[in-house]
Amino acid sequence: MLANVKEVKFPTRGDERGRLIVQEGGGDLVPFEIKRTFFIFDTTPGIVRGNHAHHKNRQMLICTSGACTIDCEMPDGTKTSHRLDWPDKGLLVEGMVWHQMKEFSKDAVLLVLASEHYDESDYIRSYDEFLKMRQKA
Ligand code: TYD
Repeated sequence: MLANVKEVKFPTRGDERGRLIVQEGGGDLVPFEIKRTFFIFDTTPGIVRGNHAHHKNRQMLICTSGACTIDCEMPDGTKTSHRLDWPDKGLLVEGMVWHQMKEFSKDAVLLVLASEHYDESDYIRSYDEFLKMRQKA
């Protein structure tokens, strides 16, 4: 069965010039074609972002600088928390996962790779609606 949330580790390629990490769509680590990327940075101290689920959009979250925490709630009610604090750590978040991003360090840059173009109708922004949809699933 497909896991709703999965921690992955990207291989680090390095030589005397420095380090390099690749994310490629459609592979084992990012199992979707990447249609969109965005990143979150310069966050207000103590802020909690996200607070939504997607119907369809699949995402890979990578904190390329600094650190942040991602809290997830699965359709079956299971809750998990993930600290992203190194650029080789990725968190695959499938659709229908309620997620929050929080505890951003001052230097945090959270990169998100997405399987879909931006579409506000793909968002479930009401927690009550998420709970109702969960019961139906
Ligand atoms: P929002 O979903 O509130 O961010 P977060 O997931 O961090 O809570 O998005 C902030 C604003 O940016 C909102 O007006 C929607 C807009 N936006 C786009 O236009 N395109 C995008 O790809 C994303 C992710 C957001």
